[in-house]
Amino acid sequence: MNILIIGSGGREYSIGQKLKSENKVNKIYFSPGNGATARLGENIDICDFDKLANFAIQNTIDLTIVGPEAPLSAGIVDIFKKYNLAIFGPTKAAARLESSKAYMKDFLAKNNILTAKYINSDNYEEISDFIDTMSERVVVKADGLCAGKGVIIANNHKEAKKAAQDMLSGSSFGDAGKRVVVEEYLDGFELSFFAICDGENYVLLPVAQDHKRLLDNDEGPNTGGMGAYAPSPLATKELIKQVEDDVIKPTLKGMKQDGNEFCGVLFVGIMVVNNTPYVLEFNVRFGDPECEAIMPLIDGNLSEILYNASIGKLEDIKLEDKFAVAVVISSKNYPYSSSKPELIHIETIPHNSHIAYAGVSAISSDLYADGGRVLVCVGVGDTINKARDKAYELCKKVKFKGMHYRKDIAYQVLK
Ligand code: AMP
Ligand code: GLY
Repeated sequence: MNILIIGSGGREYSIGQKLKSENKVNKIYFSPGNGATARLGENIDICDFDKLANFAIQNTIDLTIVGPEAPLSAGIVDIFKKYNLAIFGPTKAAARLESSKAYMKDFLAKNNILTAKYINSDNYEEISDFIDTMSERVVVKADGLCAGKGVIIANNHKEAKKAAQDMLSGSSFGDAGKRVVVEEYLDGFELSFFAICDGENYVLLPVAQDHKRLLDNDEGPNTGGMGAYAPSPLATKELIKQVEDDVIKPTLKGMKQDGNEFCGVLFVGIMVVNNTPYVLEFNVRFGDPECEAIMPLIDGNLSEILYNASIGKLEDIKLEDKFAVAVVISSKNYPYSSSKPELIHIETIPHNSHIAYAGVSAISSDLYADGGRVLVCVGVGDTINKARDKAYELCKKVKFKGMHYRKDIAYQVLK
């Protein structure tokens, strides 16, 4: 199989790393990839979807896998399908589960799926009246894609109204904020559920937990994610069953009924409040860094699983009876601003651990840190403790100026 992976992060690297270990996989291309993906395959850089589809035809690509949400929301799957190419990911219409929070919330309400009480509106008076009916803490969200930044957790009504006004006026998030979702604040713990879907059926991957804040003890600003582990024991059998029965199944059914069959990764962000799972958000792709923690837990042919899902013939998945912990190492100024490129030194990589590279560029055989989230140290073991120790042993082997990582990944289950 020849495979094309769209994206440039640690998520895409980890998918490529997994595929490279499979007998069936011949050549892997990345568009655009990063300085290290070129070691797993070949980087190309084609933005236009029709041109990319032509590249896939000319290079006998058997399967295209889309990492990030932006090309999905822009309709890459629709274009590839026009050329009869196998591509793993949802169509533009189905990707609205992530690209429009208003669509997502209305979809949940219509299908009786539990989520925070909300209003979806572009009218300030209506929003302000709704906020007056809420308890003190309120969450204000821009409707469109804001690279994970469009969510404001307001501590009081004044702050909430100001956030809504700034969004509606276009001053905080441009067009993405011209419609706003305001919802009740949910106080619980978060889990990331991933289902590989073929339009009708799904298989569940190990449940992961992300760490969104920059600093230990969940302090500091929000980031794309500073570390993850899987499977999380916080996801009990009962909870998993509840999420499957009350969220994933009705979602796939509802999407199909609406003529938007969902193929790809359905990533359900869940907040568990008093043992009850509430949907915080849907994403239509793998999470990053959750993907880096999940990939080593798949025992079998990922290429076949994703190919079969892309043609509507999903098969079961075999999982390793192990745990993985993924620790993100970021650059000095992340998430505020970019940092100047720094040479990365890596000593011998310990057994049962590996690196998934993200924001790196290559100059001859050297790798430089030149993105926000630079690389991810992944440890694998029979227990979360062992996996965590391996990941941190590996972190100590990585050196570049200004590097930062959290020291408490998986703390919620390792107290
Ligand atoms: P979202 O993009 O909707 O997942 O929001 C980003 C993050 O904001 C989530 O991962 C949560 O940590 C937080 N968040 C979003 N909605 C709520 C809510 N209703 N209550 C509490 N926290 C929330
Ligand atoms: N780690 C969360 C995300 O990928 O959106």
